[in-house]
Amino acid sequence: MTQDDMKRAAAREAVNHLSEGDIVGVGTGSTANYFIEELAIWGAAAGAVASSEATASRLRDCGISVLDLNEVGRFGVYVDGADEINHKLEMIKGGGGALTREKIVAAVSQKFICVVDENKVVDVLGAFPLPVEVVPMASVQVARVITSLGGKPELRKGFLTDNGNVILDIHGLNIKNAVELEHQLNNIVGVVTNGIFANRPADVMVVGTGDGVLVVKR
Ligand code: 5RP
Repeated sequence: MTQDDMKRAAAREAVNHLSEGDIVGVGTGSTANYFIEELAIWGAAAGAVASSEATASRLRDCGISVLDLNEVGRFGVYVDGADEINHKLEMIKGGGGALTREKIVAAVSQKFICVVDENKVVDVLGAFPLPVEVVPMASVQVARVITSLGGKPELRKGFLTDNGNVILDIHGLNIKNAVELEHQLNNIVGVVTNGIFANRPADVMVVGTGDGVLVVKR
């Protein structure tokens, strides 16, 4: 089984956690794209809230109506991938640069289903460089503060988020207290948000493995 096969299998399983007429929040990335295909095949969602422009356009291409979060209010389920997820279902996200909108949509949903392949499950978060979205004029200052905290920030070259900001990817972290580090980084002036999803972790982790799909609830 390839990594893509495992992502697709996890995405297919996520559809079993939906109910007819649900409004579904949809993440960004290759696993989320598999989920969009499965959502279109299922065909029973009332609509979707997108976590990025790329996801919105893919949803429309698949015939799924895209709803404005401000007009929807609270909704049931958010389905998204992750770059890393630990056993407390805390995650690092933002490899695709959509972390801020992903965090917003996740915050509004009642249930967060994280769909990953088995390579994403870790004991300790931080081997994957942590993305931090930063207002462009503050990038050097924010990088300085992050360096003083022990991280090694690297500007993601040639990339702007859907919100017009830049991303610093922080290398060299070994995240023991994800809840605290998420708060600490968000408190740096100029940071829009960071890719630790620990204060609002996933509720369900669906893992595609070589031996089938594993469902873990928090
Ligand atoms: C995008 C994300 C993605 O969920 C994360 O990067 C995983 O991507 P993929 O499903 O392609 O492995 O956070 O901002």
